[in-house]
Amino acid sequence: MSVRLYGPIRELHTLAGDDAPRRREAMRETARADNAGIAVSNGRVLDVGSWRTLGRRFADAEQVSVDGELVTPGFVDPHTHLVWSGDRSDEFLRRCAGESYQQIAEAGGGIASTMRAVEHAPVAALAAETLERARLLLRLGTTTVEVKASYGSSVEACKRELDAVARMRRKAEQRVVVTFMGAHVVPPGWSRSKWIRALVDDLLPLVAAHRAKVSFQDAFCEEGAFSVAECRRVLDAGRRIGLVPKLHCDEFTALGGVEMACRLGAASCDHLLVSGRREIAALARSDTTAVVMPGTAFFLDKPYARARAMVDAGCALALGSDFNPGSAMTPSMLFAMGLAVSRMGLSAEEALCAATANAAHALRGAVPRRLGTLAPGAPADFCAWRVGSLQELVYGFTFLRPSAVFISGRRVN
Ligand code: NIG
Ligand code: FE
Repeated sequence: MSVRLYGPIRELHTLAGDDAPRRREAMRETARADNAGIAVSNGRVLDVGSWRTLGRRFADAEQVSVDGELVTPGFVDPHTHLVWSGDRSDEFLRRCAGESYQQIAEAGGGIASTMRAVEHAPVAALAAETLERARLLLRLGTTTVEVKASYGSSVEACKRELDAVARMRRKAEQRVVVTFMGAHVVPPGWSRSKWIRALVDDLLPLVAAHRAKVSFQDAFCEEGAFSVAECRRVLDAGRRIGLVPKLHCDEFTALGGVEMACRLGAASCDHLLVSGRREIAALARSDTTAVVMPGTAFFLDKPYARARAMVDAGCALALGSDFNPGSAMTPSMLFAMGLAVSRMGLSAEEALCAATANAAHALRGAVPRRLGTLAPGAPADFCAWRVGSLQELVYGFTFLRPSAVFISGRRVN
């Protein structure tokens, strides 16, 4: 068995502990080790401990410098809309001048405008753009990324989006988890009932069998998008053919999507900007991960989700980027962590847990066990940072990037 020893590491946060999700005070326990090393075999963590002890135990192992004083698990981003084409910088400036996200959508822009751009993009170009974004995420420390195919405006366009994801996935360095989100908004030119029928009867069977290997199905439960009953209908149809549900809910309006998704056993409820006591209690009682994305609140200049209350109530809280061209040009998970600490009242330790171990829980079943930690048996996915401490990492959230990124023990950046 060939073993590699990574280190020495001044401050290592392994997040080893109970299998995710971590709740309440367990979110603050990052399993820190000082002057430590990581022993890796076959791309998996074999052991973690003091650099000296590991050095004696694995005396023949090749030693690899990690190029940074602080090491964390690689970030797991459980929510992106990475596949898109076109440019919505005009909408950004319109919003800055006073128009709302919803007003722009009602005037034919928003999600529908990206749908029109995707409709005309060749698969190769779409794959190349998506891959470029995945590379950016890797440089920012994201070693696992969930990618939503969410801008298809016809059966054909949805299929081409998935073809692009499959292509991009072959070339991307990081772990890619795929979610289909045909129920984003009713595409231009379709009636609501016809689109839902096309989704259930024609698209979902095609999606479940697609070589992009789709794990999850998501839907947008919102005024102007889909009702609770409509989301339930498509998520149920997907569930019957093996697609695990997720739900965009409570982004602008609390319609009851949280309760429905929890009852359905959804892997996650995402956004939750306007979730109140009832929704938080439903999440806390469930095994559904609460994914909050402060980048969206920041980019849309909206109030932040009540993440502090969610942790205190016992929700399995995770962070995501929501990286997309309309509501969240915010690709960095460290940026999400910094906002979680500075705007939502989380501690640095809680934010790290939410961006790693708990984020992996939002993707359970589609990622290896213990992903998001560096416990023995976990994939050896980690980031090294040239900072003195975890608190300094969070302090530098607006500009820091990892000095080195490893996936399965291989340096990829
Ligand atoms: O997660 N909420 C719906 N969907 C995206 C926005 C996508 C877009 O504006 O293109 C979101 O915020
Ligand atoms: Fe989203």
